[in-house]
Amino acid sequence: MRRYLIAGNWKMNTTREEGTELAKAIAAGSSNATATVDVLICPPFPYLIPITEAVAGTQVQVGAQNCHFEASGAFTGETSLEMLTDVGASSVILGHSERRHVFGETDADINRKVLKTLEKGLQAVLCVGELLEEEESGLTKSVLDRQMDGGLKDVSAEAMANVVIAYEPVWAIGTGKTATPEQAESAHDHLRKWLESRYSADVANATRILYGGSVKPNNAEDLLSQPNVDGALVGGASLIPENFLPIIEAGVKVSS
Ligand code: PGA
Repeated sequence: MRRYLIAGNWKMNTTREEGTELAKAIAAGSSNATATVDVLICPPFPYLIPITEAVAGTQVQVGAQNCHFEASGAFTGETSLEMLTDVGASSVILGHSERRHVFGETDADINRKVLKTLEKGLQAVLCVGELLEEEESGLTKSVLDRQMDGGLKDVSAEAMANVVIAYEPVWAIGTGKTATPEQAESAHDHLRKWLESRYSADVANATRILYGGSVKPNNAEDLLSQPNVDGALVGGASLIPENFLPIIEAGVKVSS
């Protein structure tokens, strides 16, 4: 039985004070829910320490939105996994569509980060998803296959225990246009089958596949009810407790 994961990707938002208040409100509002579902928040790098402190003693996990694969050295502007571990991050979002399409990250770049994340014992949340024109050309499944092949190259079956996949159709991110539950289920089912053929039925059954792209309180339950949707990666709605907490509650509801 896969445990739902509701993850908040704060992107480049909040001040330190706003982030700390948001984290505290999420921790307080989800204290019962975390018995049933996992809750992860991913603030900007500079706030990892205050946010980790703000949720200390609660079940809310804290993650980063990116990392570099080298441990240290002349990599101006980058943050290593050693640093992330040092400040208490337990997960890293990798291959987010904004990293791929705004900052030009390739599947090979993402793979190096995934491998290093797993080597350091952190959870990798690997994002995959097609662009609008790819969806319209019927290329969704081949794009997903390419991103899975590339992102998970050389990742062992054992290491998959620390991998979460997030299906995020790019056309649904920040647009208010959500994939229908059927569209999400179709992509998730495809990803599950990819995991089974690349690894095994056990790995496919154990790996969580989140949906992301305009998840809101009013669509969360329908999306999470799909058999192959194991949680949500939430952007805009994760910045407001009144929006994020009901999504967590939807996860609790569909778990029971
Ligand atoms: P959104 O972002 O919920 O604002 O669409 C999702 C994401 O980018 O992870």
